[in-house]
Amino acid sequence: MSSLKKAKIAAIARAVPEKILTNFDLEKMVDTTDEWIRTRTGIEERHIADEKTTSSVLGIEATKKALKKAGISAEELDFIIVATITPDMVFPATACIIQNAIGATKAATMDIEAACSGFIYGLSIARQYIATGEAKNVLVIASEVLSKITDWDDRSTCILFGDGAGAAIITESDSDSEIMSTVLGGDGKYGDILYLPAGGSKKPASHETVDNKEHTIKMNGQDVFKAAVTKMRSSLKKALEKAGIKSSQLKLVIPHQANLRIIESLRKFLDLPKEKVYVNLQKYGNTSAASIAIAMSEAEENGIIKRGDYIALCAFGGGLTWAATVIKY
Ligand code: UT7
Repeated sequence: MSSLKKAKIAAIARAVPEKILTNFDLEKMVDTTDEWIRTRTGIEERHIADEKTTSSVLGIEATKKALKKAGISAEELDFIIVATITPDMVFPATACIIQNAIGATKAATMDIEAACSGFIYGLSIARQYIATGEAKNVLVIASEVLSKITDWDDRSTCILFGDGAGAAIITESDSDSEIMSTVLGGDGKYGDILYLPAGGSKKPASHETVDNKEHTIKMNGQDVFKAAVTKMRSSLKKALEKAGIKSSQLKLVIPHQANLRIIESLRKFLDLPKEKVYVNLQKYGNTSAASIAIAMSEAEENGIIKRGDYIALCAFGGGLTWAATVIKY
């Protein structure tokens, strides 16, 4: 074990589409109000991709910025991991599309489908490859264009989601910066509370699946809410224990940005003041896998987190899946 190498986040960046859809815009589309959306979720607006913008387009934009910040070239990447539930196509993997676009000729490629937990799942995989020396530079991208799998007539879901991407470069650490612990989990028995029914081998696309809007997200919001609160707490607690860190030592917790009430419940559980829990869902809505990566990139850019700070990330999502990590940034 002692020969394992430490992995760090060398750089992180983000990309979001320009177009903004506000709660007031949604008032004109479905039977809802800005007040309901703000009080039940905390969301005020979200970024929405145009027709041509895919997950790879946003992922490439975020990646170029991250590579520049890390000072490494695409040819130096050994592995590209893309977390997304909105791949450009079923196959080839979006990681392959991005690899080709950026010229990462040496890199292996893989997509992972862990929904909103995908970015932390990706960090965990990257960490193992760095630890064993199998890879030196790993690119973890979380990119989603959820607007394209949203039922814009369903007020219970369409008010929640947004589009965006984050990209992180994970490298071997020669300082005390380190991904200290990761905790991953899943429970498929809750698969039917958050899912997209058609388009896979179970229900291939047909006129019927299109007519029934089965290519859009279906969710039992209350059940997801309850699971989210429980799993975010338990996974973050475990990640802190594994890292040997107390919540009071954390500079910042960056939770998955799904609902302000879920985030508040986590904050109270950890007994942390508001300024120690990052919230940006008012501007982006829920961008699934991308949410934590976008938030971390913002927090870093705004100087809220600096090298040497202890930070924690935690997420839950469709699957169900959940994940947490403690990082010395
Ligand atoms: O990344 C993981 C993905 N998902 C999540 O994290 C979602 C977790 N769940 C949630 O965030 C919340 O459950 C929601 C925000 C989705 C819903 O909030 P809620 O407090 O659980 O509301 P509810 O589903 O219990 O609905 C309450 C009422 C219902 O009306 P009645 O039956 O009380 O008359 C809904 O029909 O609110 C109604 N409603 C709306 N009203 C205005 C549902 N959506 C809307 C809406 N505007 N957009």
